[in-house]
Amino acid sequence: MTIYLNGEYMPIEEAKISVLDRGFIFGDGVYEVIPVYSRKAFRLEGHLRRLQHSLDSIQLSNPHNDGEWTKLINELIARNAAEDQYLYLHLTRGVAKRDHAFPKPPVKPTVFMMSSPLLTPPATLLQSGIACITAPDNRWLRCDIKAIALLPNVLLRQMAIEAGAMETILIRAESNNEDAFMTEGAASNIFVVKNGKLLAPPKDNLMLPGITYDVILEIAAANNIPYEVRRIVAAEVFAADELLLTSSTKEVLPITQLDGKPVGNGKPGAMFTQLHQLYQDFKRDVMRATTLPPRDNQ
Ligand code: PDD
Repeated sequence: MTIYLNGEYMPIEEAKISVLDRGFIFGDGVYEVIPVYSRKAFRLEGHLRRLQHSLDSIQLSNPHNDGEWTKLINELIARNAAEDQYLYLHLTRGVAKRDHAFPKPPVKPTVFMMSSPLLTPPATLLQSGIACITAPDNRWLRCDIKAIALLPNVLLRQMAIEAGAMETILIRAESNNEDAFMTEGAASNIFVVKNGKLLAPPKDNLMLPGITYDVILEIAAANNIPYEVRRIVAAEVFAADELLLTSSTKEVLPITQLDGKPVGNGKPGAMFTQLHQLYQDFKRDVMRATTLPPRDNQ
């Protein structure tokens, strides 16, 4: 596997960073996960926009403009073997003597990218659906930042694994449990389906604004699928006809079991089937449109 670290491409075994890197010491950094289909980064503009939002939020200046990022990313894709890849991009505030406050003057950020083969969910999983559990959302109030400090998410996801499930759906309570509402999954966004309508939580400071989430809502709008973006109370999650999970690596998955009980009739529903098909069509159309041979200008 060839990786990119601070201006150089190299085999992953040769990549080294200082133990004083603020990413290692404080988790002081941000990241992106970008799916690559047929060697083309999917929704790159959206990922770079979200990266900029994360960087602005932690007051770290972006070392590259979009054109430079695009070149670096395309070069990394070209240097790795798979046609479909899972590209991980990671920036930290750099290497400095240990002090919580930002280094003054600022030091160079650490820029790291790696890419591995993208394995989208197998057909068996799409047919059976996945099991999830619920747990209180005990994270901070800036979940809109794609921060590398993921300990709460790691612990929440592990709870699911230990319960024999795949993901934990997070429920946040602000004052009392009666108005508890759903935010997202530990590493995914969650949609609720009720009476033929798709419900999505709002992109506020309490969830990561997913790129796949955006694609799903655009697809819904373009295909006259009724949808509503609003707070979803916990009771609506438990009474859902269908629950859907989205992320860059999982695309869209049906959740057929929640806390050990069936969701709806316990099988992937009509909304999932329609959205999954439309998502695959959309992906293929975008890739086809962008992989046309260059125009002959003569
Ligand atoms: N995680 N919410 C959280 C907390 C996430 O970690 C992710 C993605 C998402 C979905 O965002 P997107 O559709 O842009 O992938 C929502 C990535 C895949 C990860 O950390 O590996």
